[in-house]
Amino acid sequence: MPSDSYSGKTRARVAVITITLFLFILNIKRIVADTAEIHSFQQGCKLEGLHPLLIVTYKEITISVDKITVPHNERITVRCRELGKYKLIGEPLLHCRNGTWNEKTPYCVPTTAISNYTENVPPTIVFGLPTGSAALEPTGALAVFPGSILHLECLFARKFGEPNWTWTSSRDYLKGWAMSRGNDWKYRLSIYYAKHHDSGVYTCSTPKGLSNSIQVRVVDVRCPVLTEPEPPLISHIGSNRIGDNAIFECPEGYRLEGASGVTCQYNGKWSANVPHCEEIECPAIEVEDNPLLSLIEHNNTYGGNAVFTCMWGYKLSGLQTIRCGGNGRWNASIPTCLEITCPVPETPRSGRIIEQTRYSNKKRYHAPIYKVGALVKFACLPGHQLIGEASLICIENGTWSHRPPVCKIRCPYPGDPPHGRIAPLKFWYKPGDNIQVTCSPGYVTPLEPVKKPSCRENGIWSAPPPPCRSYKEV
Ligand SMILES: *[C@@H]1O[C@H](CO)[C@@H](O)[C@H](O)[C@H]1NC(C)=O
Ligand SMILES: *[C@@H]1O[C@H](CO)[C@@H](O)[C@H](O)[C@H]1NC(C)=O
Ligand SMILES: *[C@@H]1O[C@H](CO)[C@@H](O)[C@H](O)[C@H]1NC(C)=O
Ligand SMILES: *[C@@H]1O[C@H](CO)[C@@H](O)[C@H](O)[C@H]1NC(C)=O
Ligand SMILES: *[C@@H]1O[C@H](CO)[C@@H](O)[C@H](O)[C@H]1NC(C)=O
Ligand SMILES: *[C@@H]1O[C@H](CO)[C@@H](O)[C@H](O)[C@H]1NC(C)=O
Repeated sequence: MPSDSYSGKTRARVAVITITLFLFILNIKRIVADTAEIHSFQQGCKLEGLHPLLIVTYKEITISVDKITVPHNERITVRCRELGKYKLIGEPLLHCRNGTWNEKTPYCVPTTAISNYTENVPPTIVFGLPTGSAALEPTGALAVFPGSILHLECLFARKFGEPNWTWTSSRDYLKGWAMSRGNDWKYRLSIYYAKHHDSGVYTCSTPKGLSNSIQVRVVDVRCPVLTEPEPPLISHIGSNRIGDNAIFECPEGYRLEGASGVTCQYNGKWSANVPHCEEIECPAIEVEDNPLLSLIEHNNTYGGNAVFTCMWGYKLSGLQTIRCGGNGRWNASIPTCLEITCPVPETPRSGRIIEQTRYSNKKRYHAPIYKVGALVKFACLPGHQLIGEASLICIENGTWSHRPPVCKIRCPYPGDPPHGRIAPLKFWYKPGDNIQVTCSPGYVTPLEPVKKPSCRENGIWSAPPPPCRSYKEV
């Protein structure tokens, strides 16, 4: 946990930097403006062309920018990025006095861990915390909570000789090549159960006289106790010693607003405020300006649905149901409504349309448009019988209510002859059908063998029905 806690802190710090940088710059501008009025004769100090590895702390806010202006009489603190891997050359504390700094701008030089363990650079100093906690101070000093075990490792290639640890405190410490892996390049000094009087500067010097130092301050710094937050915020709160972390998350359907982790900093303040959870909502859907589309369900919270429908005679193009996703966006676009039309119906052979509800299509005026409810009525040419439904209606799924009818060749009912009746009696006769005539009492058909009239293939009778004559005339 200790090393995690350290890296967790670094991450949290980066987040804090990003968030606060903007505010910070605004703040500086305001301070510059204020002081310009009061001490118009005393100028602010510029900090330009900063070494990219330098990290600047001003008014307890840590920033990394390449150019800032600090008002007269203000102080800044600098350190190198990646504690121990770069050595700060110069003073970490700078004081602005009427346009000039009291010290030269410091810079960072790489150490052995960066330069592949060459002999001509200062040694790297890294630390390990098997128990306890620690946090970095703006000066690059390591603030260690009392009782922690601290290993300071001086990284130096053993083949070039043995480095030398020296320190300012009066205690004695175990030191030597690390026993485990890395025992050819880690020259360790261990501080067990750190106490206040272990505070001081620890310096590792190489046989060539190059050195690097780390300042250790054993301080009993604690941050305010964090209380369990209100649901839905979920927290993993550790202890509140310097360097300790608390992690936050939100359940599904919520978005975390703020830092997902906070670290107890060197100054006894948490690196950020406790975040909160915001319910995820998708943008509300407006259909007012689309008279064809309406919403039958509209739940724009995470996991909720928006369900659409179209005006009568129109159909949806797109999804009927869309869902509000975890990113606060609808999972698909809002559908549109298309007018439902039926295809042009097939006119039967030997038939024609005698009535229809037709809407001309402006773009392709040759093709009629049949909207829902449109009616088409057919009739057959003379000598034909209409089989099926004469009228079709365009229905809501874009199909016709019936198949178009067909026109079959038929002979019409020829009419009864005077004083007689034809049999069989029908409206329509199929080609090949015959009829015969039965005369009323007292009447007869001619005795000569007369062919029975038959319906021909063209829908015309082969002969008219034979007449009935009175006995008297025969
Ligand atoms: C500050 O510096 C400016 C010029 O750099 C000078 O004119 C002014 O007198 C100085 N003010 C003080 C209070 O030293
Ligand atoms: C580092 O040094 C070792 C030997 O001292 C060499 O084998 C290795 O290639 C070097 N690596 C780099 C990245 O220079
Ligand atoms: C380490 O440095 C101290 C102080 O400079 C010196 O007294 C001591 O002899 C050195 N030890 C070794 C092993 O070089
Ligand atoms: C909206 O949808 C969410 C997720 O499905 C559900 O929990 C909530 O009860 C719904 N709200 C309403 C008002 O129906
Ligand atoms: C969006 O959500 C709806 C409703 O759950 C689902 O039917 C549809 O397939 C989803 N669309 C996409 C593109 O994921
Ligand atoms: C259209 O609707 C009718 C009546 O509801 C139904 O019989 C027919 O199968 C439907 N056709 C299609 C293509 O859905």
